[in-house]
Amino acid sequence: MVKPMLVLQGHYMNWRVKSLDDILATAERRSLTRSLGGFQLMMLGVGAIIGTGIFVLTAEAAQKAGPGMMASFVLAGFVCAVTALCYAELASMVPVSGSAYTYSYAVLGELVAWIVGWALVLEYAVAACAVSVGWSNYFVGVLHRLLHIDLPVALTKGPYAGGVINLPAMAIALFCMWLLIIGTRESARVNAVLVSIKITALAVFIVLAIPMIRAENFEPFRPLGNLGVVSAASSIFFAYVGFDAVSTAAEETRNPQRNVPIGLIGSLVICTAFYLLVASGAIGTIGAQPVFGPNHTIVSPGSPEFHAACRDTGGQLLACSDEPLAFVLQQIGYNKIAGLIGLAAFLALPSVILMMLFGQTRLFFAMARDGLLPRFLNKLHPKYHTPHVVTLITGLTVTVFAGFFPVGLLADVSNSGTLTAFFMVSLGVMILRVRDAGRRRGFRVQAIWLVGPLAAIGCLLLFINLPLKTNFIFLGWTAIGLVVYRLYGYSHSDMNGKPGA
Ligand code: ALA
Repeated sequence: MVKPMLVLQGHYMNWRVKSLDDILATAERRSLTRSLGGFQLMMLGVGAIIGTGIFVLTAEAAQKAGPGMMASFVLAGFVCAVTALCYAELASMVPVSGSAYTYSYAVLGELVAWIVGWALVLEYAVAACAVSVGWSNYFVGVLHRLLHIDLPVALTKGPYAGGVINLPAMAIALFCMWLLIIGTRESARVNAVLVSIKITALAVFIVLAIPMIRAENFEPFRPLGNLGVVSAASSIFFAYVGFDAVSTAAEETRNPQRNVPIGLIGSLVICTAFYLLVASGAIGTIGAQPVFGPNHTIVSPGSPEFHAACRDTGGQLLACSDEPLAFVLQQIGYNKIAGLIGLAAFLALPSVILMMLFGQTRLFFAMARDGLLPRFLNKLHPKYHTPHVVTLITGLTVTVFAGFFPVGLLADVSNSGTLTAFFMVSLGVMILRVRDAGRRRGFRVQAIWLVGPLAAIGCLLLFINLPLKTNFIFLGWTAIGLVVYRLYGYSHSDMNGKPGA
């Protein structure tokens, strides 16, 4: 272990930075078809953003922050907004596949690009796992409410929650993989329908819940203090993840200089408005106090102690619900509509899985094109013209993880990768302002010296407030990545033999 790290450090000195012109030229040589417009991108963005975060993790946020989760939504949304601006500027300068990975290649060099690309695997692939598990909760609920079928817990929950294997989560991951293999255009069309269902469901929730808000349900506002609010923000950040997947589709976008910023910022604005309204509706109607263990001990969501405490209270708290939005409507007397909201989540959450898998395959596509991963991954399907090899490998891996791990842990791990990538993007945009000030920018962040540092500090703050276990998993994953880079990527990179390599 010691030796490769030392060798790696040696090469670290031998810094390899790809020029922006090189990146754009590579994309021209082997590019995907440009078929997406601004509106479609915005829909792809909303498709990727609204999902398990609001439909499932609202319960986890209640457990960590109580009604203070309103502030958590604002904090996480703010960090995403400033980062989205940075993303939009970089995406408008480098409109090619690969998002933060490609930007880092141009700005901070190959090693950092690799680390970011490797972290983005957590963002996309692990997020796809998390959403598959969240979807499974609603699937079980829909079967129960609409068809009165109760599947055995052993087959619908992982070992963490008293089951054996989460088969519905695995099945939905496989289904989404298949959709992506048969083609991006088809997937985008399915996505547009699913996004409309999701937005309608949230709008109905808001219309029914907001008039029944009672001020006393917001008290005490921060039962677990400011730390609870920040740590809930670190987890609920997951609800906003996905807008950057828009930039991974840049290479398939018409007039990307104009359309990518529209897609990124437009989708984030729509989602933030919905989240704040939904959160106030949920808290204001039934309250959002956390459940405590014996002697008022704090229990972390998803732990065995948490499940025991929920059983003791009869599970009648927002924090204990597997399908919080359906649960709220049920509690305020809208049983039938609760069923429909569950149905909408059941139908629409797969759009997020699609988007995450899409982002992951396009990221691998970019890394393999640069030679950092084996090029056979980029083989296009003879009939569908999609990168089917990489889609198959990603989809099957996601399927296995979705079968065995809890949604909260998966979401936190995904957040650790995303926050790392976002941090790099915010540094990158500032560095390019100094180093490549004259290059044309289709979108330019106003007040970059305020927005950039705010984005970087925000990402850092959320990262360090993730559970410690998550931070360790992230470090372990990064260490594995460095070994893979040393053993494969470094020697196979396109940059070998080029000036500066
Ligand atoms: N933002 C996406 C979700 O909440 C990943 O499911």
